[in-house]
Amino acid sequence: MTEHLKVLLLEDDPDFAEVVAEELCRCGHAVDLVTNVADALDRVRSFVFDVALVDLQLPDGSGLDVLREVHQEELATETLVLTGNAGVPSALEAMRLGAYDYLSKPVRLEELRVLVEKAAEKAHLRRENAGLRARLQRHESRSGFVTDDPPTRQMLETLARAAASTMPILIHGETGTGKELLGRAIHEQSPRAAFSYVPINCAALPESLIESELFGHERGAFTGAIDRKAGLFEVASRGTIFLDEIGELPLQLQARLLRVLEAQEFFRVGGTRPVSVDVRIVSATNRDLRAEVEAGRFRQDLFYRLNGVSARVPPLRERRADIPLLARHFLDRASRGRMLDGDALRLLTSYDWPGNVRELEMVIGRAAILSTNPTIGTSDLPVEVHPRAAPRVLATDLTLAQMEREYVLTVLEKHRGHRGQTAQALGIDPKTLYNKLQAWGTADES
Ligand SMILES: Nc1ncnc2c1ncn2[C@@H]1O[C@H](COP(=O)(O)OP(=O)(O)OP(=O)(O)O)[C@@H](O)[C@H]1O
Ligand SMILES: [Mg+2]
Repeated sequence: MTEHLKVLLLEDDPDFAEVVAEELCRCGHAVDLVTNVADALDRVRSFVFDVALVDLQLPDGSGLDVLREVHQEELATETLVLTGNAGVPSALEAMRLGAYDYLSKPVRLEELRVLVEKAAEKAHLRRENAGLRARLQRHESRSGFVTDDPPTRQMLETLARAAASTMPILIHGETGTGKELLGRAIHEQSPRAAFSYVPINCAALPESLIESELFGHERGAFTGAIDRKAGLFEVASRGTIFLDEIGELPLQLQARLLRVLEAQEFFRVGGTRPVSVDVRIVSATNRDLRAEVEAGRFRQDLFYRLNGVSARVPPLRERRADIPLLARHFLDRASRGRMLDGDALRLLTSYDWPGNVRELEMVIGRAAILSTNPTIGTSDLPVEVHPRAAPRVLATDLTLAQMEREYVLTVLEKHRGHRGQTAQALGIDPKTLYNKLQAWGTADES
């Protein structure tokens, strides 16, 4: 990164300071020169520098005091230490205090400039990650649902208001969008929070057992029913039942469920006395239930019963600004000290996330485990989030020349326009690649 940087230079040797300042200014950076510790402290307290270049031995004290100030306050400034000949022990002390690196005088100017730019890149990353953390604190709800997307926040507010009532709630959203997390949040925010929350996956219950699971059975109701058993509706009494994947419920059971909801009572399997229930129903589906109703696969009357308040959780690709926020959230959970670099964040943000938040959670968790770098970069992300490589389809209606052009351009795209890498991948020399691109009219000025 070679944008204009703000550099603080603390150096009491005027000749040396001038050479360094000149080199940095030549590269477009702004240098603020101070010659004693007191002035340096004053500056770092009132300005945000990208990098502070600090000499250690100064007339009024030690440059280490400046480092202490910068790193204690967790300012987004990186520090680099300049040491004279006697400096190694204090350079080590400086590193311990959090300095990015140190240079022994005499320094090579080129080396110094590169180091300043590298340190600034780290400072930039730290700021970016700190910014995400600050946003996270503002946008993580008590239940742990993270979003900064206006329509999604509105949906959360609707749910929070509905939680206080006994209205049934129907949550619709693609897989991995957090429906279950929301179901639990509704329960916890409701006056029923002290009672049970009972999640039931309608798709996972075996059809033969579903009735006795939901409604319980009397002793001797069927072979194997040795004792009376309470069903999930009884367990959830005064609490909340979360009917996950409600769209998968068989039609015959839909009728049973509807009767329970209407009468607020049910019969145990093999039972003759009705049992009355007070449960709040929250259901979730990744299907379009209206379409299911139209197709005759879901009872319309039950749909209206469940759909007291409806909420749609948008897929991640419709709220891409949430992606960096969620990535930061999951990385904090996995290992708090690590950072995500800008390229990795960009790559994550441009991916479509068919598995939504669950998939993102897995990708970040995996990167945190497998990568040993303090900063997670694009190479730590799995292939599926990288842009598609050339599809291995052989078109049969192209001429050989057209085919060659398509292929070369796809490989070029895969390497993001990098000519050297593309030539290498194609096994030709860069000059040949250049000539071909020029002949096709895609070679630019570079
Ligand atoms: N906005 C969010 N903030 C934080 N974590 C989230 C968010 N959305 C989802 N998650 C997390 O993602 C994972 C998947 O969420 P959840 O199981 O609630 O999805 P779902 O919509 O029920 O998916 P499915 O339809 O596949 O059952 C969970 O670990 C959940 O905690
Ligand atoms: Mg779920």
